[in-house]
Amino acid sequence: MGRLLRHYWFPVAAVVEVPRGTARPVRLLGQDFVLFRTDDDTWGLLDEHCPHRGASLAQGLVDGRALRCPYHGWAFAADGGCVEMPAEADNPALRDRASIGAYRVETLGGLVFAYVGEAPAPLLPRYDLFVWGGVLRDVGQALLPCNWLQIMENSVDPTHVEWLHGHHLAGVRARAGLSTPERYRAHHERIGFEAFEHGIIKRRLLEGGAEEDDDWKVGHPLVFPHMLRVGAHLQHRFQIRVPVDDTHTRHYWYACYRPPEGVALPVQDEVPVYDVPWQDEQGGFITDFVDGGDIMTWVGQGPIADRTRELLVSSDQGVIILRRLLHEQIARVEQGLDPLGLVRDAEQNRLIDLPQEERKFGDGRAFLREALELSHVRHSPLRDTIAGWLEPSVLESGGG
Ligand code: FES
Ligand SMILES: [Fe+2]
Repeated sequence: MGRLLRHYWFPVAAVVEVPRGTARPVRLLGQDFVLFRTDDDTWGLLDEHCPHRGASLAQGLVDGRALRCPYHGWAFAADGGCVEMPAEADNPALRDRASIGAYRVETLGGLVFAYVGEAPAPLLPRYDLFVWGGVLRDVGQALLPCNWLQIMENSVDPTHVEWLHGHHLAGVRARAGLSTPERYRAHHERIGFEAFEHGIIKRRLLEGGAEEDDDWKVGHPLVFPHMLRVGAHLQHRFQIRVPVDDTHTRHYWYACYRPPEGVALPVQDEVPVYDVPWQDEQGGFITDFVDGGDIMTWVGQGPIADRTRELLVSSDQGVIILRRLLHEQIARVEQGLDPLGLVRDAEQNRLIDLPQEERKFGDGRAFLREALELSHVRHSPLRDTIAGWLEPSVLESGGG
């Protein structure tokens, strides 16, 4: 699985978290790195430990176009070359032997992506939300103490919505005197899954719904292997599950908000990042919002869910399909073939539109207002701006 995952690009930070001239540690796929950005916006990702005597370069200082080890000042460029050993007479042959592992880094849509697999690297996929115009963006994040795969399995498990986000959430919120929309409890009459070139499309037919509904006709995708795309109307987002190591996942909520018709789009110079709290002061789960319920179940399955003790049933068909797909892609990698979803064609990569319901959950403004209260968006630094879009006076003058 590790070899398979190393064929993909993963976000390792938000751009705003790495000011020019700084470095920070990054852990990805069980390996430790240092990410740095020079004053002229060259990005570098190197092995964390200095090839001299192993000090951590995460505490290094960016000096010109290189990162300098804090211990004896050896300096490394973004390509991994050692460019200076201050305590030695300059010796190019010795410097050659001191080079360090260096990896590909690119920025897109306010995130910093890394590729730590074999060359030639595939292109960093330009999925729609990373490149859309006409939206505001933000990035929520949480470091979760569980394996990435149990989170991905949740993305092909539609029926959990009616129970976890319907009945359980309503029960938790009722105890606090809060209400929860009825439709979260709508029964799934049918679920469907279909592999496509970027992953798995997931469809649902809810009680009272019809096959002509976007929910069934269009659906939305698990973007293989580590993302989910959700949303409709004025809000669309990726949930990105970055495998930090076997028992930790960095979860990003990457959101795009479209202003209602007639509302001017504010200028956004940078994409802000914010923490999504999921534990209370006693270390218990915060479960009065949708994402908190998800996190409770992902983490509650244990650091690595024990699949030998589970009882899969017919409504788990999505989980079974995902596991099969993973096994097939592992086999492709063993045969020296590209696994699913790699992009190597620049023309195709101008914009990768993913299928996504445009109409669902009734009114788009009501759905966005709900997100402000019931989802991770309640912690967003854009919360007040978005709430302002939904003021009755704005809507009356702006239409939409
Ligand atoms: S350990 Fe890094 S320069 Fe000596
Ligand atoms: Fe969920």
